[in-house]
Amino acid sequence: MEFSGKTAFVTGAANGIGLGICRALARSGVNLVLADIERSALEKAREELATFNVRTRAIEVDVSDAAAFERAADEAEAEFGNIHFLFNNAGITLRPTPLWEITPQQWEWIFGVNIFGVINGLRALVPRMIAHGEAGHVVNTASIGGLQVNPKLRNGSYAMTKYAVVAASEALALDLEGSKLGVSVLCPALVSTTLHASAARRPERLGGPFERPGADIAKAWMAGGLAPDDVGKRVLDAVTRGEFFIFTHEEPREWIEARHQRLMAGFDSIERYNARERGM
Ligand code: NAI
Repeated sequence: MEFSGKTAFVTGAANGIGLGICRALARSGVNLVLADIERSALEKAREELATFNVRTRAIEVDVSDAAAFERAADEAEAEFGNIHFLFNNAGITLRPTPLWEITPQQWEWIFGVNIFGVINGLRALVPRMIAHGEAGHVVNTASIGGLQVNPKLRNGSYAMTKYAVVAASEALALDLEGSKLGVSVLCPALVSTTLHASAARRPERLGGPFERPGADIAKAWMAGGLAPDDVGKRVLDAVTRGEFFIFTHEEPREWIEARHQRLMAGFDSIERYNARERGM
């Protein structure tokens, strides 16, 4: 995969993993369209990335708004021409809450950003990336929580959205078979980012920013995570090698194996049931 001189569209680019990915891309000579809802952090990120001698453009956009995403794609294409890389990375999380206590407005927000943000990105950019015919790649940021529900975190709503992103990525890889576009799904474990501050980024139409109880505890916990720049470096290496699942940590292997054992136990049960039914 050639990077230099190509253009990437990165959502959630103003902070955390998105910014780490942008730094890695900028080091490889990729021009950057930075899309994010947080205006001040977005402009700061753009100024920093411009020092890498690549072209940069910051676009303030709520990824959950399909029409706004389409306009952002128009703006990016008008300025840069062909877009080669799409990083559907913007995401938010809710504080640990049992599913039945989450309000319709909160569901709309988390599904809107984490699932529809990805869908809107695919709708706005993949047809253009196919049409120009040059090689490229789509990376959707899910989570290790997209492959198992973490019993300690109690963030089932988040896991639900990330399972959807894994499924969307698997479907997209099939849809793009035979094209010049590759697909990966990024499944990080803990990364030290500003995800604990998600509440400050709720769009106005869904109630606007609010105080999240326990944000300080989440912030302290997240400080122990992997550096976003290390994730950015890892992502580019995986894209170069055409890896579909991009993991950032080795430790979650055990959780995923345990989940698969539970799935296989379900098949053992149906085999036993059928054997009983057949009177064997
Ligand atoms: P972050 O909070 O530092 O970055 C997320 C970015 O998305 C922020 O710049 C934020 O302003 C932006 N954003 C939020 N809502 C938006 C909206 N409606 N429209 C446009 N931009 C919006 O968090 P982080 O951790 O860098 O998150 C990036 C992705 O990584 C997310 O999808 C997250 O779910 C995922 N992830 C993070 C992990 C972690 O431990 N930090 C682990 C696994 C996955």
